[in-house]
Amino acid sequence: MKRTHHCAQLTKADLGKTVSLAGWVDSVRDHGGIIFVDLRDREGITQVKFDSALRERAAQLKDESVIAVAGKVEPRPDAMMNKSLPTGEIEVDATELVVHNISDTPPFPLTDAGGDKVNEDLRLTYRYLDLRRPKMRKNLQVRHRATKSVRDYFDAQGFIEVETPALFKSTPEGAREYLVPSRIHPGEFYALSQSPQQFKQILMVAGVEKYFQIARCFRDEDLRADRQMEFTQIDVEASFIDREGIYALFEGMLKQVWKDVLNHDLPTPFPRLAYKDAMNRYGVDKPDTRFAMELVDFSELFKTSGFKVFASTVAAGGSVKAVNAKGLADITQGEIGALEEIAKSLGAKGLAFIKVEAGEWKSPIVKFFTEAEKAELTKRLNVADGDLIFFAAAPWERACAILGRTRLEAAQLLVKRGKLSISATQWNFLWVVDFPLMSYDEERKSYVATHHPFTSPVPEDAALLDSDPKAVRGQHYDVVLNGMELGGGSIRIHQPALQKKIFEDVLKIPADVVESRFGYMLKAFTFGAPPHGGIAFGLDRMVALLCGTTSIRDVIAFPKTQKAQDLMAQSPTPVTAKQLKDLHITTVVPPQ
Ligand code: AMO
Ligand code: AMP
Repeated sequence: MKRTHHCAQLTKADLGKTVSLAGWVDSVRDHGGIIFVDLRDREGITQVKFDSALRERAAQLKDESVIAVAGKVEPRPDAMMNKSLPTGEIEVDATELVVHNISDTPPFPLTDAGGDKVNEDLRLTYRYLDLRRPKMRKNLQVRHRATKSVRDYFDAQGFIEVETPALFKSTPEGAREYLVPSRIHPGEFYALSQSPQQFKQILMVAGVEKYFQIARCFRDEDLRADRQMEFTQIDVEASFIDREGIYALFEGMLKQVWKDVLNHDLPTPFPRLAYKDAMNRYGVDKPDTRFAMELVDFSELFKTSGFKVFASTVAAGGSVKAVNAKGLADITQGEIGALEEIAKSLGAKGLAFIKVEAGEWKSPIVKFFTEAEKAELTKRLNVADGDLIFFAAAPWERACAILGRTRLEAAQLLVKRGKLSISATQWNFLWVVDFPLMSYDEERKSYVATHHPFTSPVPEDAALLDSDPKAVRGQHYDVVLNGMELGGGSIRIHQPALQKKIFEDVLKIPADVVESRFGYMLKAFTFGAPPHGGIAFGLDRMVALLCGTTSIRDVIAFPKTQKAQDLMAQSPTPVTAKQLKDLHITTVVPPQ
C-alpha cells in the first residue's frame, strides 16, 4: 500500500478522495462498536474510523503499533469536530488495514506532558520513544532548519566548508581531552579535537581565506545543562578581517537564522559591553540584560565605614558592592540560607543584607551606617519599602561574581513571586569585548591566556606585554544571549615572532615544549601568514535557546547523561583483553 498523504495534510478540500496513510497508532477509542484510531506520523495526526469488517482487527491495535490504512475522506460529525487540528474536520473511513508491527506498551506516555513528568534517565534509555514526542520532534526540526540556515548564509558570503580531523594531537593546556591510543605507534596517542582552532588558522596560511565548518568537538568536562562531552560548533575563520568585520558577519548570520527559524527580525547591531563594565554592572562576563537589577559599587563610600568588614576590605584594595532585589523583602529564612550557601561556594565570607519594611532598615549591620551613608545607599540603589539589599565585600572580581550570582538567584525568586517577568522570547544579544588577554594563575604562579594563546593583543596595549601583561586587552569577543555564552573568538596573532614571545616570555612555556606542541604552527606562519580572525558558536546552545529549552540535551538526538553515559546503547563498556593488547594498553581500575 503506497502512502498518498501525510497525517497533517487532509482537509475538507479532500472530501470524497480515496487515500492511504501510514504511521503509528497514537490512540485507539471504542465508541459503541465503532473504533477510532488517531494515526500519527512525523507531520501530525489524522482520525481513522473503522466500522466495517475491519473493526475487530482495529480493536486489537495497541498504542504505538505501526499500520497503514486506505479509505475514503469523510466529514466528521459536528460533535466530533476538532478545530485545533489541521485535519480536525475530516476522518478517513478505512477500507484496508495493514498491520506492520504491534508495539509493546511504552514505558512512559509519549505526549509532551507525559514525557516531562518522568525521570530524564528513562527518556534517555528509550530515546527512540522520547523522540516521538511532538516537542522533541520539533526540536530536531528546528536544529535542522538552523543548521541549514547557517550553511546557506556562509555559502552566500563566499565561505567554504572544510572538514578538519577529529583525531588530533594532545594539547594539554586546553580543556581536559579524550585520548585515543595508537595501534601502530605503541605508547602514543591521538587526542580528539577540542576545537578546530589550529587547523582553521593553518587553513588561513593555506590561502582558504574564508572557512567554516559545522564541527564536532570533544572535551572531557564536567557535564551540565549547557555542556556535553561531544558538542557541535559553528566554526569560522577569515583572513584580512578585523573585529568590526566579524561583528557584522555574525550579526548577519544570527539575523538570518532567527528569520528562517522563528520568522523574527533581530535588530542589529548588537550592543557592546566591555568586560570590566559587564563585571561591574552584572557581576558576570555573560550578563542576562533582560532585567536591570544592576550592581552598584560603594567602595569609596565605605572606605571609612564603621562596619570593619567593609572598611578593611577597601583598605586591602578590595571592593564593596551592593544589589537591590526590588520587592524581595518577603524572602524566607530558607531562601536566604540557600543564597548564603551559594555565595560561600564562590568564596564569600558572608552575604550581608538589609530588609526594608515600613520605612525601617532591618539588619544587624545597619547600626554601623551613618545617616549620610544611608542617604547615598537610598539614592544610588533607589531604595523603597519592600526592598532587599545584598552586600559583598571581597577582592573586586570575587565581589562581582558573588553579587552577579545573587542577582540571578534573586531574579528567579522574584519571578516565582510574580514580581518580575523574564521573557524567553526577548532576545538580548550583546558582544562582550575588551577581555584581559592574560590572567594571573595564583596556583601556577604564572600568567595564563584568558581564552587561548593565539589571541592578538589590542594594538594600543601591545607595549604593555613586557611590563604589565595583566593590563593588556585581547582582541577577543564573546556573543552573549540572555545570560548564556553562545560564542567566542578573536583576531589572532599572525606574526611568528609575537606568537613565540607570548608562548615563551609571557606564558613561560619552555622553548622545547613550545617547539614540540606548536612548532609546526610557528613554522607555517613563517611562510606568509595573512592577518586573520574567527569565532566559534555553540550550535547546541543556540538551538536550545531557539527551542525555548534550557538543556542542550533536549536538542541533541543522542546526548550523554551528566554521568557521561549513553543509557540507550549503554556506553562506556569494558573491552576485551585482546583489544587492549592490540593497543598496547593495560588498565588499572581503582577499587569501587
Ligand atoms: P570556546 O572554547 O569558547 O572557543 O567554544 C566556543 C563555543 O562552543 C560552545 N561550547 C560548548 N557547548 C556545549 N558543550 C560544551 N562542552 C562546550 N564547550 C564550548 C560554547 C562556546 O561559546 N576555538 C575557540 C573559538 C575561536 O577562538 O574561534 C573555541 O573553541 O557556546
Ligand atoms: P558579622 O559581624 O561577622 O556577624 O557579620 C554581619 C553580617 O555581615 C552577616 O550577615 C555576614 O554574613 C555579613 N558579612 C560578613 N563578611 C562579609 C563580607 N565580606 N561581605 C559581605 N557581607 C559580609
